[in-house]
Amino acid sequence: MDRILIVYYSRTGTTRMVAEKLAKLLEADIEEIRERKERAGALGFFIGIKDSILDKPAELISTHAVEDKDIVIIGMPVWADAPPPAVRAFVKQYDLTGKKIFAFCTHRGSVEKRPSRNFPKCCLRKSSKPWR
Ligand SMILES: Cc1cc2nc3c(=O)[nH]c(=O)nc-3n(C[C@H](O)[C@H](O)[C@H](O)COP(=O)(O)O)c2cc1C
Repeated sequence: MDRILIVYYSRTGTTRMVAEKLAKLLEADIEEIRERKERAGALGFFIGIKDSILDKPAELISTHAVEDKDIVIIGMPVWADAPPPAVRAFVKQYDLTGKKIFAFCTHRGSVEKRPSRNFPKCCLRKSSKPWR
């Protein structure tokens, strides 16, 4: 049987809720991607937009057991039409070669209006600018 890991980043809990439901359904391991930077409140929101647009690097404080997994599912909120810095850092930092990768995102509607050019690429490329 495939060993499945769900990793997710969530600032306000929506992506966490989806990830937890999915983990139960798939009997998957689940891990939260956490970063050092504090992003609470209105200030955190605006800095989040800025960091996402400028592709600022994030420092992860979580570690993830991807080695023995066959499938990795990455959950994230949309930040300025792109994955948040912590998720970009995860994809850059961990070697996902040879694994089946799936990704899902939660958002406030912009992705439905403009299907994002950024998301499918996030799991395929590991350059310093994998999102554009
Ligand atoms: C910094 C920031 C930027 C965002 N940018 C977008 C966006 O471009 N399009 C969109 O539809 N929603 C955007 N949102 C809304 C979130 O994607 C949405 O509320 C998401 O479900 C939050 O997930 P979370 O509770 O797991 O953090 C943004 C939220 C934040 C905090």
